[in-house]
Amino acid sequence: MVEDYDPCEVEVDTEYIGHEIKCFDEVDSTNNVAKRMAEDGATEGTVVIAKTQSRGRGRRGKPWISPQGGIWMSIILRPEVHPSRAPLLTLVAGVAVARTLRDECGLDVGIKWPNDILIGDKKVCGILTEAHARFNTLEYVVVGVGIDTNVDISHFPDDLREGATSIKNELKRDIKSSELIARFLRNFEEAYNSFKDGKMDEILTEWRKLSKTIGRRVEIRKQLGEIVHGDAVGINSEGALILELDDGTLRKVISGECIHR
Ligand code: BTN
Repeated sequence: MVEDYDPCEVEVDTEYIGHEIKCFDEVDSTNNVAKRMAEDGATEGTVVIAKTQSRGRGRRGKPWISPQGGIWMSIILRPEVHPSRAPLLTLVAGVAVARTLRDECGLDVGIKWPNDILIGDKKVCGILTEAHARFNTLEYVVVGVGIDTNVDISHFPDDLREGATSIKNELKRDIKSSELIARFLRNFEEAYNSFKDGKMDEILTEWRKLSKTIGRRVEIRKQLGEIVHGDAVGINSEGALILELDDGTLRKVISGECIHR
């Protein structure tokens, strides 16, 4: 029996993130709903949560399986920064999820660049950041977070099951979704304030400590089919992954699918 939590019962103790929460039993994708709301003028910090998504979206156009029992939510942000800084919000959210799973569930999590939250080498959470800019001005960003909380992984398709886990899978019990969301929103607000206050260095330092990618041999699959192999040696101030290639040169990778080898 899957926990039937009511996303509207989340008791937030933040300054502004999650003061407005729109909850739904089912949507196509909370990111789609949040984008429409942002276009209609929703304020910074508005959160969209759904119990299930019929067309949840992952990165690189992949579907995101979103059964009841998971946390599927999106946050609308309006930071006054250059659009090139928007991808950093994926790292901000990753650090906030990691803090939350550690403090609320006692789980030792790591991050695979740029956006996979791992327990061991299995993915428990993904982040999809979508930005909308006009004339070089960032109008809004939607940060979508999907956490496999009280989800039974055995129902996942074969190809996904191998690399996935859930909190229920790890702890052998259900957790209280509303409490996890409240803690996440608090952690996210704190990390996001650091980003806005020009203290991204602090977040990047924490991210590097959580990183499971730095120090690994990786394969990066880029959008147009290019594949790059190298040793991941760090991330820079833009959140780009720095690879040392086999000929010893350094290459900066801004986006792509990262596979640990
Ligand atoms: C990934 O790892 O590929 C990103 C997955 C992001 C999933 C979340 S669930 C809430 C929000 N709505 C979506 O359609 N996607 C994100």
